[in-house]
Amino acid sequence: MTLPLILRSVADLRQHVRAWKSAGQTVGVVPTMGALHDGHLSLARAARAECDRVITTIFVNPKQFNNPEDLKHYPRSEEADAALLATVPVDVIFAPQPEEVYPDGFATTVSVSGVSEPLEGRMRPGHFDGVATVVTKLFGMTMADRGYFGQKDWQQLQVVLRLVRDLNLPVHIVGCETIREDDGLAMSSRNLRLTAAGRAKAPVLYAAVTAAAADIRAGQSDRMAIREAAEAIRAAGFDRVEYIELRDAETLMPSDDPTRPRRMLAAAWLDGVRLIDNIPV
Ligand code: PAF
Repeated sequence: MTLPLILRSVADLRQHVRAWKSAGQTVGVVPTMGALHDGHLSLARAARAECDRVITTIFVNPKQFNNPEDLKHYPRSEEADAALLATVPVDVIFAPQPEEVYPDGFATTVSVSGVSEPLEGRMRPGHFDGVATVVTKLFGMTMADRGYFGQKDWQQLQVVLRLVRDLNLPVHIVGCETIREDDGLAMSSRNLRLTAAGRAKAPVLYAAVTAAAADIRAGQSDRMAIREAAEAIRAAGFDRVEYIELRDAETLMPSDDPTRPRRMLAAAWLDGVRLIDNIPV
């Protein structure tokens, strides 16, 4: 199996992308922070199916961590990631060092107001500024025609869609379905940090929001359905429910308008691990 080419500098990356583009080829980018699982691979496969060339970026972006310990312990597994990406296969892995992305004197922040403020934005101050800044840079560096993001991070996907529209970036964003384990747990690098007992309880998060969404569709009040979901999650042994909210799917603002697409989003702590999930309502 041939491993994808690993590039570390923007200059090398641009040289490849320019050659592809002058041959009339389309380029897809799958931005990641590594520690890849089937969820990431499904994004890379979607890009492979739709683009002539596929770049996966692997960069643990320091600017989006509001907790230095989280950054320090973020899993890094470039060799294993490269082997997984070879199965797709992708053409190039762009894995720059932090100095390549944020050279001395770097002074720009991309900040998307509104959609990045509630929920994850409130719980993780500065997180979406870090995401928006690095994603804007990755689009600039890769000159990609299409960018692939998971719906698992629904709010992140909406932030990226907003910034692409607002800044007229010439990239089409594709939001791909959440990939789940057989028991419903959304795939995430964080799942590996759960104990065996925690892993057994974890699917309750998805089951509870799914039940709440079904109850709301059947006519139960939003508030009652959400309260029951939170109780079910706590009863299953989660340490804490951070939020369960029914929001406008695009703006992430509170929504009691069932004629607009709505999304139920949840974050809860289990075994000291923060799990998030979301589903359409
Ligand atoms: O979803 C992620 O892994 C990151 O937030 C992203 C989009 C790669 C930006 O660093």
